[in-house]
Amino acid sequence: TGILPINLPLDFSSIQSIPESHAWSESNNDNQIKNNGSSSLALPIIDLNDPNVMDQIGHACEEWGAFQLKNHGIPKNIIEKLEVETKRLFDLSKEQKMKALRTLNYPTGYGTVWITPFFQQRMWQEGFTIHDSPVDDAKKIWPDDYQIFCDAIKKFQDESMLLIEKLIHLSFKYLGISEEEKENWIGNNHAGAIQLNSYPICPKPEKAMGIVAHTDTSIFTLLNQSQVSGLQVFKDDAGWFTVPLEPNTVVINTGDVLHILSNARFKSALHRVTVNSVKHRYSMVYFYRPIMKHVVAPLVSNNPRFRALTFKEYVAMKNKHFDKTLSIISVKE
Ligand code: SIN
Ligand code: FE2
Repeated sequence: TGILPINLPLDFSSIQSIPESHAWSESNNDNQIKNNGSSSLALPIIDLNDPNVMDQIGHACEEWGAFQLKNHGIPKNIIEKLEVETKRLFDLSKEQKMKALRTLNYPTGYGTVWITPFFQQRMWQEGFTIHDSPVDDAKKIWPDDYQIFCDAIKKFQDESMLLIEKLIHLSFKYLGISEEEKENWIGNNHAGAIQLNSYPICPKPEKAMGIVAHTDTSIFTLLNQSQVSGLQVFKDDAGWFTVPLEPNTVVINTGDVLHILSNARFKSALHRVTVNSVKHRYSMVYFYRPIMKHVVAPLVSNNPRFRALTFKEYVAMKNKHFDKTLSIISVKE
């Protein structure tokens, strides 16, 4: 057997055991705290209609870099349609999905998660990445029947964008950033991306990794865990917390950009995904990012902890230095 190309997921449909390429030496369930009542610490669940929502979001971003959000306003049927289409996509044969295979020069479509090159082992995951519009890639897979998929994506994208703009409004206000400055980060100054993930049933979940620990490059990320949990968030001095399935909530996390804008007051949530031996897991993720030419720098302090750079430069550095990036752009005192 040859070496699996870096962009190509395993053909999970024919797998009975974990190949060496996908076996991680240490268990991914170590150091895990279950937030089931035995500990008073738990990822906050915030109600968008709560009168104190601004402070709650601010505190959650400071302490966790993540929270679950209810009364978020994204209609249930939009999320359900997206779940149906995500499953329809990943349930296709390997040959069919490979028609939209992602390459280095064409970074959208079907493939492995972008952090794959930083690790020796592969992850128990296959993904589908969308920038702007899914039409071109969807047409490769379903030449006559791409519209249903594209409609489901578009609706989720539009709703997620509106919701995140509300969260930017609230969090900027909490940080004392002006209304005027806020305009630089929303509307035409933003770019959205979508990542659909599939984590097939795994014969030995303790030896596999869904997605290894990372922070997102976004301002905010919105995530739907669908029917199966598996996402974990790291809290300093406390360890890994499994994000429970809460009906009618979405998971929100802050990314590196908001960490920088807030001058490190908000965490960029370190998170990872575990897999299981019982249920195939799917997740749908929306990233709210600045446009490439936008300058990213702290907005809230006259003692900036990071040097200014364009978002394009930041992305290039992250693709090269991964988890070292934030410390490389730190201003040393
Ligand atoms: C991710 O971190 O991009 C995926 C999270 C998930 O599948 O829950
Ligand atoms: Fe992520």
